[in-house]
Amino acid sequence: MNREDFPMLKNNLIYFDSGATSLKPSCVIKEITNYYENYSANSHRGDYDISLKVDKMLDDTRCKVKDFINANSSREIIFTKGTTESMNMIIFGFMKNYLQKDDEVLITKTEHASNVLPWFILEKELGIKVNYIPLIDNKVTIDKVKESITNKTKVISLAWITNTIGDIRPIKEITKLAHDNNILVVIDGAQSVPHIKTDVIDTDIDFLAFSAHKMLGPTGVGILYGKYEYLNQMLPLNYGGGMNSFFESDKTMEFKELPERLEAGTLNLSNILAFSKAIDYLENIGMDKIEKHEKELKKYLINKLKEIDNIEIYNEGTDSGIVLFNIKNIFSEDTSNYLNHYHICVRAGNHCAKMVKDELIIKNTCRISLYLYNTKEEIDKFIEIMKGNKEIFKVIL
Ligand code: ALA
Repeated sequence: MNREDFPMLKNNLIYFDSGATSLKPSCVIKEITNYYENYSANSHRGDYDISLKVDKMLDDTRCKVKDFINANSSREIIFTKGTTESMNMIIFGFMKNYLQKDDEVLITKTEHASNVLPWFILEKELGIKVNYIPLIDNKVTIDKVKESITNKTKVISLAWITNTIGDIRPIKEITKLAHDNNILVVIDGAQSVPHIKTDVIDTDIDFLAFSAHKMLGPTGVGILYGKYEYLNQMLPLNYGGGMNSFFESDKTMEFKELPERLEAGTLNLSNILAFSKAIDYLENIGMDKIEKHEKELKKYLINKLKEIDNIEIYNEGTDSGIVLFNIKNIFSEDTSNYLNHYHICVRAGNHCAKMVKDELIIKNTCRISLYLYNTKEEIDKFIEIMKGNKEIFKVIL
């Protein structure tokens, strides 16, 4: 992996927080500027060259996203602001009309806030029940999913990879089980799509939400994928320009077909078009290679961390590039401040997954989330600093 492609790495940083947002390669950064300097026009509104160029690039990017996740049609790809907006569209634009009082939705206590709070609100609004699949060693097993299903279960909504424990869920098996029971499957792919191969046809999932900024792309861009038949029934959360075919003073109106119907207003064009470069970059390396690299780094990191006597590791048995740990008896934010002193970026706290404490029996942790540009040399430097952790309060106070 070519570290020279990432300008941020020239800043003498060890960046271990890609779960929060990834670094961006120069080709992505340059494309944002290229848009503003050379073809800064709106889409679907102008009959002049640069606007037509934007239309063409937008269509090409949509097709690229479709191919990246192996969707059937580019009309199943909706541009949003991020995973959070995509999840809210699924839950309030579709599920609010699909579900009825007493229907059950299955999630887990290790979901991120965006796959919890909209469901809690729907529970209050509609009287649905949000239930938790029990975890075994913090992981989802097909047996526990099976046991949790009742004749009222209508939706299973899970992260493919959680942003804390970092477990990779058996999504294909879960979807098969769900569909055999007429249950829809919603996937929060924020932490999976950047790291492992995603195939929505093979897994047969019904909805998928993910963000560009965690996969080398710019902030403010997300994707909502849904099977055509479901997206076609989804009500827009936003109404306005770009999504209507006509409206009249007598209040008649007609909306466009997918995908425009769900994309009211001007899109974040510079960043969407730059996201296309991020996908090219990931495709050129290959998702299998990225997954393998992260697994190797995680194993290396855990083995080294275990050599330090006062470290607790909470997710050794999971496969993604996420490592959760604490220095014994030290508050996680003190540890992240200590590491920050040496220009090492990790995340500390509850990581927006505030129910994880019910499973881990620990509220706050430090999180390392690795990506394709991280190296064993960076891990070695981190371990050297961690070996000096008995001096933590001399350093941070
Ligand atoms: N959801 C992002 C994270 O896990 C912000 O850090």
